Amino acid sequence: MNILITGGAGYIGSHCVRALLEAGHTVVVYDNLIYGHRGAIESINQHGGYTCELIVGDLHEKERLVSILQENKIEAVMHFAAYAFVGESVENPAKYYQNNIVAALSLLDAVKETNINKFVFSSTTATYGEPTTIPIAETEPQQPINPYGFTKLVFEQALADYAHSYGLGYAALRYFNAAGASPDGLIGEDHTPETHLIPLVLQVALGQRENITIFGQDYPTPDGTCIRDYIHVNDLAAAHIKALQHIRPAKGLKLNLGTGRGNSVLEIIEAARKVTGHPIPALEGTRREGDPPELVANSQLAQKTLDWQPRYTNIEETIATAWAWHKNHPRGYRQPS
Ligand code: UFG
Repeated sequence: MNILITGGAGYIGSHCVRALLEAGHTVVVYDNLIYGHRGAIESINQHGGYTCELIVGDLHEKERLVSILQENKIEAVMHFAAYAFVGESVENPAKYYQNNIVAALSLLDAVKETNINKFVFSSTTATYGEPTTIPIAETEPQQPINPYGFTKLVFEQALADYAHSYGLGYAALRYFNAAGASPDGLIGEDHTPETHLIPLVLQVALGQRENITIFGQDYPTPDGTCIRDYIHVNDLAAAHIKALQHIRPAKGLKLNLGTGRGNSVLEIIEAARKVTGHPIPALEGTRREGDPPELVANSQLAQKTLDWQPRYTNIEETIATAWAWHKNHPRGYRQPS
C-alpha cells in the first residue's frame, strides 16, 4: 500500500515508518521537522536500503498535500504530526488548537478531496482526563483536563463526522505511555525539551543529569507515586499496521493501546537502575499539575479487533531497548560535536 505518514520523523511516527517499510509498504513522510528529525528517516533508509521520501512541509498547506496525495497515489494516511506537551498546551492553547485541529483539518480535507478512505490517527489517553474506572476501557467517558487532550478529542469527533457523512474509514488509536526504542538501537526517542520519565531517568544514567525528581509521593497508589501503562513503541507500530487492515469505509475503530500493566514512577526508576547498573539518585518533588494518579489500559478491544498482542510486557525489557538507543546516541540525532 502507498502510505503518507505525517510526523513520520518523530518518535512514534519513525518507528511506524520503519515497521511499514519492513512490511513491504511504500511510505512518504510529511513532517515540518520542528520536533521531528531528518536523521531518523536517513538512518532507516541507510540501514534498510529503502528510499522513503521525506517531504518537509506543514499541515496548513492543503493544496500541496492534495498534490502529494495524488502524485504518490496514496491509499492511506497515518497522522502523527501534533504538538504533544501537556504543560505547554495549558500555557499556550492557541498553538495547540491551531496545529492539532485547524491545520489537521486541512489534511483531513485533502484526504476527502482525493477520496482516500483509510486514515489512522494518533489519539491519546489524555482524551479520558481523570478516569473513574481502572483499567480504562473505550467506554470510559472522554473528559480531557487540558487543551492537548481536548484537541485530540475534537479531531476524533471530526473523524467520526467525516465517516458518517463522507464515508471515511478510520482508526483513532489512543496510546498510553509510549516507551522504548528499536531494539537494534537504530532509532529512538529524542525530544527537546525532554519531559518524559524514562528518557530523563536514562539521562541520569548517562551522566547528563545528576538526579531525577519524582513528581509527588503522596498519590493514592501503593508506593505513593503515579502509575502509568508503558507500551513499547514497536508494539504501537505493529498495532498501526494491523489497524490499516481492519479499517472499513464509513466506520471508525476507537481503540486503546496499552499493555494492561501499570508501573509506578518508583518502579520505573528501580527498573532503570537494574538495566543500566547506575544508582540513579532520585529526589522527592511536588506533584506536577494535571497528573492523574493512575492510567492503565484495558486493551481487550484492540487485542480482539486487531488480533494484536503487545510483545513487550516486561518493563525492564522495554527500558533496555531505550537504553540501547540512548547509550549509542547520547546526543540523540544531533551529530557528535
Ligand atoms: N515524572 C516524574 N518526574 C519527571 C517526569 C515525569 O516523576 O521528571 C512522572 C510524571 O509525574 C508521571 C510519570 O512520571 O506520573 C510519567 O510522566 P511522563 O511525562 O513520562 O508521561 P505522562 O504520563 O505525563 O504523559 C503521557 C504522554 C502524553 C499524554 C499523557 C496523558 O506522554 O502525551 O500521557 O496523560 F498526554
